[in-house]
Amino acid sequence: MNVGDERSSSCWMAELPAIAAPPLRNDAECDVLVVGSGIAGLSTAYELARFGRSVIVIDRGRIAAGMTARTTAHLASALDDYYAQLIKVRGEDEARLYHDSQVAAINRIEAICRDERIEADFQRVDGFLYAADQSGRRDLEEELEACRQIGVEVEWTDRAPVPGIDTGPALRFSRQARFHPLRYLAGLVRSCSGLGVRFHANTAYIGHDEKEDRVEVTTEEGAHVRASAVVFATNSPVNDKVLIHTKQEPMRSYAIAGAIPQGSVPDALVWDSLEAYHYVRLQPLGDGEDLLIVGGEDHRPGEANDMETRLAALESWTRQRYPTFGEVRYRWSGQVLEPIDYMPFTGRNPGDRHIYIHSGDSGQGITNGVAASLTLLPLVIGEDSRFATLFDPSRKSLLSRPSLGEFVRGQAGVVRNLAEYVTPGEIGSADELAPGEGAILRDGIAKIAVYKDQNGALLKCSAICTHVGCIVHWNSFERCWDCPCHGSHFAPDGSVLNGPAVRPLARHT
Ligand code: FES
Repeated sequence: MNVGDERSSSCWMAELPAIAAPPLRNDAECDVLVVGSGIAGLSTAYELARFGRSVIVIDRGRIAAGMTARTTAHLASALDDYYAQLIKVRGEDEARLYHDSQVAAINRIEAICRDERIEADFQRVDGFLYAADQSGRRDLEEELEACRQIGVEVEWTDRAPVPGIDTGPALRFSRQARFHPLRYLAGLVRSCSGLGVRFHANTAYIGHDEKEDRVEVTTEEGAHVRASAVVFATNSPVNDKVLIHTKQEPMRSYAIAGAIPQGSVPDALVWDSLEAYHYVRLQPLGDGEDLLIVGGEDHRPGEANDMETRLAALESWTRQRYPTFGEVRYRWSGQVLEPIDYMPFTGRNPGDRHIYIHSGDSGQGITNGVAASLTLLPLVIGEDSRFATLFDPSRKSLLSRPSLGEFVRGQAGVVRNLAEYVTPGEIGSADELAPGEGAILRDGIAKIAVYKDQNGALLKCSAICTHVGCIVHWNSFERCWDCPCHGSHFAPDGSVLNGPAVRPLARHT
C-alpha cells in the first residue's frame, strides 16, 4: 500500500491502468536500487539505466501511484517561494543556479518526451503571478527586481488571464510548461523497462545495512537487495530517523478539477500571492473541453480536519474567478515537504557513502524531482555534479530565512505533539464515532487510534507513530491517520501509506 490507497483520486489517477510489477520475492543484486517510483525515483532510474547501470526500482505500493500522482504538475522555473526570498537566504549565485536547475528540468522533460515518444501533453505555456492583496503587490515588485538580478525572464503584464476578475498587473514568466504526470511516468517506465530496469511494486523497504562497498536493503517481505548504491526518493526519506526531518516539514494541499469549454480560459500556469497560495492550470480533455485544475488551502497535517470546508472554499474561489467552471469532477489532496531554506535535499545522505536521498520538494515537486535525477546521476557514477553543493543534504542552512518564524512554529508543533501523550482523548468512547470515522481515545496511559468501519466494526491501533513517536491524527477526507511531525500516513488498520515510518501502527486489542 501507499498513498495511492488513500480515499481520494486525482484527475490523473482516474484514467491510467496499473503498471504491472511483481513484488520482489527473492534476493536480488544490482548496481543501483531506487526506493520510490515517483518523478524523482523514475527519472533517476532512467538516467542511470541510460548510462549502463543495472537498476532495480521498488515501491511500497503500486508503481507511479505515490505522491507524484497527487501533484497538479506545474512545470515552473519561477519559484513559488520567490527568488527574492531565496536570494536573502542563499545569495544571488545560488539563486541563479537554482533557476538553472529548474530550467534544465523542464528542458529534460521536453527532450525525454520527444526522444522516447511519450505522449504526455507536454506544452510550453506562460506563468502568471498576481497580487491577491496590497502586500502581494509589494511582493511582486520585489520579485521582479530579484528575477532581473539573476537573469530570470519575467515582465509586467496588465493582468493575469483570470476571466472572472481583474487581477491588476501581474508578473509573466515565459517558457514554463505543463504535462500529464502519469502519462509521463508510464512512458518512463516503458523506456526504463527497455533499458533493463526491474520494477517491484508492493515491496516495502524496512531497513538497510551499509558495508564498505555496498548496501544491503531488507524488504518487508523478507527479500534482500544488494546494491552498490541506493537512492531513496520517497517523498519523506524512509532511511532517516532525525536529521533531514528537522530541516523540513510536511504540508497537505488540496485540489479540485472540473471541465470548462475549450478556449474559455487561456492555457497558462496562474498562481496568486497568498501564503497558502492558489494555483491553476489546464489539462486538455478533447471534445471541446479542457479540465481546469485548481489547488490551495494548505495546512500542516494533523492541524486541521475540516477538509470539506476547505474544498468548498476552493470551489467558491474558483467559481468567482472562472465563471465557465462546470461541476467538480475530482477532489483530492497531496503532501509536500517544505525545506527550511527553499531548496530540496538531493545528494549523498549525511554520514553515508553509498546512500543518496531526494526530499524537500516544496511546491516544485516535478521540476525538483527531475533536477534530482540530473544531480544524482553524476554523483552516483562518481563525477562532479553542477548542482551537488546547492542541494547537498549536509548543507548548513542559514537561519536568516524570513519565514523562519513560521518554520520554527512548525517544528515547535513536534514538541507540542509530544505533549499530547498526557492530554485526554478526543472522544470518551468508541460509541461516539460515526461509521467511516476515526479519533483518538485514551485507554489508561495509552492513546489509541480507533477507526469504525462502515459496518460498525472497530479497528484499534496505538496512536504512536512508529517513526519517532508523535501522536497521529485522523484525516476524515482521506480516511487515514496523518502524523503531524514528519509526514507519515497510515491506513485505518495501521498499515503504512507514506514514510518516513516503515512499520505499521501497533495493533491494540
Ligand atoms: Fe516522524 Fe511520525 S513521521 S514521528
